[in-house]
Amino acid sequence: MFFSTQNITRFAKLETPFYYYDLDLLQQTLERCAGAAKVYNFHVHYAMKANFNTRVLERIREAGLGADCVSGGEVARAVDSGFANGQVVFAGVGKSDKEINAALDLDIFCFNVESIQELEVINELAAARGRKARVAIRINPNVDAHTHHNITTGLDENKFGINSWDLPVCADMLKRCPALEFVGIHFHIGSQITNLDVYKNLCVRVNEFATWFEERGFVVKVLNVGGGLGIDYHNPEGQIPDFEAYFKIFHDFLSVRPNQEVHFELGRALVGQCAAMVSRVLYVKNGKKKNFVVLDAGMTELMRPALYQAYHQIENLSRVDAGGTSVKYDVVGPICESTDCFGKEVELPESKRGDLIALRSTGAYGEVMASKYNLRDEIRSVYSDEVQ
Ligand code: LLP
Repeated sequence: MFFSTQNITRFAKLETPFYYYDLDLLQQTLERCAGAAKVYNFHVHYAMKANFNTRVLERIREAGLGADCVSGGEVARAVDSGFANGQVVFAGVGKSDKEINAALDLDIFCFNVESIQELEVINELAAARGRKARVAIRINPNVDAHTHHNITTGLDENKFGINSWDLPVCADMLKRCPALEFVGIHFHIGSQITNLDVYKNLCVRVNEFATWFEERGFVVKVLNVGGGLGIDYHNPEGQIPDFEAYFKIFHDFLSVRPNQEVHFELGRALVGQCAAMVSRVLYVKNGKKKNFVVLDAGMTELMRPALYQAYHQIENLSRVDAGGTSVKYDVVGPICESTDCFGKEVELPESKRGDLIALRSTGAYGEVMASKYNLRDEIRSVYSDEVQ
């Protein structure tokens, strides 16, 4: 069980809110992923944006994964945390000169380049430093990820990647620019993808683009298919994503050449289920139309519900064994915004001031997206090996 009676008793003495990390579950998830990837000799880079908590990163590095970064800050953090420079990739539509220079100096494995102009800039900056920059071309494949529109990235209307009609210019530039070394092609079509058939469509497009580059004399060493594998937010208990089925799709549908490497950038699937945000009920307001439970955590600590209407399972830890009446509550935070709501009409045991409330599946895009709005205190982290 994610929460034991012993843990909950320990929590009672702790200041809330905090993110609680189950490091054993994280470990099991990492082992399952690494084991499943190894079957096909696939390489996994962890998408650090999902969670860069120090102890989480430590486990991920120990599991042998690389790091997928989207800012100079993440590149620096990856290297400082002990990820090998040669296992760091750097994506993002708006890399600044400062960030590019720092990554060149660190000699990272590769830049995932998202526009023609960026290629030009990387070439200039690398040449000025007497270096060669390894680059992969992020292609927008126009594949629908069938996920929330706010986290869809691979359609023509999205800002990410280079569109197929710009590839001839891109290929010319790669041939002309002496400070660029082409290593392969990169894709990422969206996040929280639960319909695995979507990846079959992606594979078809990847094969087409790889052939397109080969026909023009390029050696495509790396096929980087990004991340996006979703988790089951409705059944968080004991859930480890089906990495075996996920990787098998790529094995079955990608045409991988000898000596070609297949890279993945998983974030949510690796860390999503290993944390819960734990907070306390400050007030219960029973109204005529609605009952409210007001927590000491809000959208400043967990932004996903306000930003994407995301669902997180809500549990009253202080009344797990309570039989009897349940009440429907809107579970809200203390922030002066109407979107500061974690769930509407949530059925919970009758709740009281001081009860501990958990929001499950918050290991990905939880702690990292916390903000200082309303000058809130920074949220703390508690680890399973501290409360056992
Ligand atoms: N690679 C690239 C280039 C990405 O942009 C992302 C995520 C990933 C990999 C990792 O995707 P994952 O495996 O975690 O789905 N804040 C949103 C999710 C934004 C995802 C952004 N890109 C949320 O809370 O749902």
